[in-house]
Amino acid sequence: MRILRGRVLSFISEPQGRDDHACYRYIEDGAVVIGDGRIVMVGEWSECGAALEAGAEIVDHRPHLIMAGFIDPHIHFPQMQVIGAYAGELLEWLNTYTFVEEQKFHDPGHSTRIASRFFDELIRHGTTTAAAYCSVHPESVDAFFSEAEKRNMLMVGGKVMMDRNAPPGLCDTPQSGYDDTKAGIARWHGKGRAHYAITPRFAITSTHEQMAMAEALAREFPDLHIQTHVSENLREIEFANELYPNYGDYVGIYEKFHLLGPKTLLGHCIHLSHRETEVLAETRSVAVFCPTSNLFIGSGLFDYERLHQRGVRIASATDVGGGSSYSMLRTMDEGYKVMQLRGQRLTPFRSFYHLTLGNARAMSLDDRIGTLEAGKEADIVVLDSGATPQMKLRMETVDSLEQELFLLQTCGDDRAIVETYVMGEPLKSKLAA
Ligand code: GUN
Ligand code: ZN
Repeated sequence: MRILRGRVLSFISEPQGRDDHACYRYIEDGAVVIGDGRIVMVGEWSECGAALEAGAEIVDHRPHLIMAGFIDPHIHFPQMQVIGAYAGELLEWLNTYTFVEEQKFHDPGHSTRIASRFFDELIRHGTTTAAAYCSVHPESVDAFFSEAEKRNMLMVGGKVMMDRNAPPGLCDTPQSGYDDTKAGIARWHGKGRAHYAITPRFAITSTHEQMAMAEALAREFPDLHIQTHVSENLREIEFANELYPNYGDYVGIYEKFHLLGPKTLLGHCIHLSHRETEVLAETRSVAVFCPTSNLFIGSGLFDYERLHQRGVRIASATDVGGGSSYSMLRTMDEGYKVMQLRGQRLTPFRSFYHLTLGNARAMSLDDRIGTLEAGKEADIVVLDSGATPQMKLRMETVDSLEQELFLLQTCGDDRAIVETYVMGEPLKSKLAA
């Protein structure tokens, strides 16, 4: 058994405004007791007597904040060496850099090397669960889940299916995409903490035949996540509608192939029509807000309030390598700025709700992760609000938890992550420098 001592913060519900202090539990001198990878007890330090008597190891993280591990619901593992590629808009960026880089993942050696570095980065930045796109190659899926397994991390991932509008080295066929996906599911889904996701990259890189195959997979495996992209960029939307002229609109393509639903994660959702938002709300599909990516590629400003008011479920994610940082803190900082530009407000409690319970709910994983509660899997992050000299100085004038969270979001990055625990094991401090 292990006891983490520190300031404990965990969400209970979605914040309903700045004055909603019932949406979280905060314990100033708190303790998280961990046994066999799970949380056994969360409470006041003074309540830890039994665990102490049983000889539990004490890790004193005071004065740091202890929270549930961060969750990133949209990231591309083969794009580590694409981050910060100088390009114009989305399709140019994909063709010039991304589709070139992803071809290297047919090589198992390259896939394994990058997968290892990828999980190191997640851990360094406090991310304990992600939904990731692998490349088109089954080798990349094996590398991804093998590395996740080594670290015992709860990961969602899948091979992208793509059979057109990409270089030949990056194209499968409707049949091979189907077969490789099915083999990946058999090999990985449910093995340890692995979850396979059916992953048609986006309508532009899939023929009708491939979309029908994705539909068949979704019917055969109704419990699996589905991940894809929609409505990121105006030229992309035009091209998708040209390729699928009889589908009404972009969301209509996924709708007609029955790919929408509560386990569908739709990256971007920036330029949606009224009808499209209604369909997302009705199907309980998740719109994934990727602010660093949307600003970097110049795709547009996600309309959070509009989607939220219409009842669309929202998650927030990095979208590395379109996104420019692995840090979920940096992500929410940019998300805040996107909303400012739209005249909307993202409160600090809502930001940190998204990073933890909100994203766990969006991924239908909130029965296992996203909060600090007895019975949950012990994926935990420890945050230092004074991680840099500038943050330390600013902390002198911070006089509320809300302000502290906002400082962490505005100025924090991997330096603010003191430790990352996965199933109760400290992983960040064990990374090679
Ligand atoms: N749309 C289809 N593929 C991608 C991708 O890799 N990144 C982004 N940002 N958008 C996409
Ligand atoms: Zn993406």
